[in-house]
Amino acid sequence: MKKILTALLAGTMALTMLAGCGSKPAENNGAQGDANNNAAASGETLRMGTNATFPPYEFYGDNGTDIVGIDADIAKAIADKLGMTLEIVDQDFDSLPAALEAGSIDIAAAGMTVTPDRQTQMDFSESYATGVQVVIVPENSDIKSIDDLTGKLIGVQQGTTGDIYCAADPADGGYGEDAVRRFNSGPLAVEALKNGQVDCVVIDQEPAKNYVAANAGLSILDTEFAVEDYAIGIKKGNTELLDKVNSALQELKADGTIDQIIGTYIKAE
Ligand code: ARG
Repeated sequence: MKKILTALLAGTMALTMLAGCGSKPAENNGAQGDANNNAAASGETLRMGTNATFPPYEFYGDNGTDIVGIDADIAKAIADKLGMTLEIVDQDFDSLPAALEAGSIDIAAAGMTVTPDRQTQMDFSESYATGVQVVIVPENSDIKSIDDLTGKLIGVQQGTTGDIYCAADPADGGYGEDAVRRFNSGPLAVEALKNGQVDCVVIDQEPAKNYVAANAGLSILDTEFAVEDYAIGIKKGNTELLDKVNSALQELKADGTIDQIIGTYIKAE
């Protein structure tokens, strides 16, 4: 596990540093300014692909039809800045790279971790949040730390970094393909954990907290591994949109909007 994590982290760190050095100051391209006035200005649609099983980043709100959460709110704020209308497309997480490539969505905003591998498939915006992979276990589990995962069945959401880390060869720090059971969503993996079909679930921390709060008898191990950067995915080579999204993100960070959105969904402990 360690080796892979180091490689992944080195990749994300490098990206963060590059983004820091290479980022241009927000330019006024006429599309920025007061969000509300610009909202419907151009009528163009910004299609955001996501997988809405991942609270607090994306999930179905109380009315059961609207997708809400940190990513939805940030994407809406970006769309407003760009004078575009946000449309959210809910799909499988592992189908997002192909959807970007095919052009059925313009951005992927899905608590998506920047990894060197994914950077060969898509471009990433600046990071807007940090994620941490954690391990969910039943309260009576004999798994007390990540050192106890060897020989266990690990549930993951298909195509996520939890999947990638855990399914890696033991020689590369993972637990091997046979150790991993893949599910279409985090909640399905947690369901399998409750039914005893897997011994633990490896997934991002904030969704993990939500799943554990919604299901009695589960807890999260204290040992955290893999600190990750979340960023917005954009079709490789679409520098025009990438620049616009980064400018909008820089403004939204500078004026406190990003912090405010995150604070709405994640309460400080
Ligand atoms: N951060 C993890 C990854 O990029 C998991 C993201 C899952 N996102 C979701 N909306 N279901 O692989």
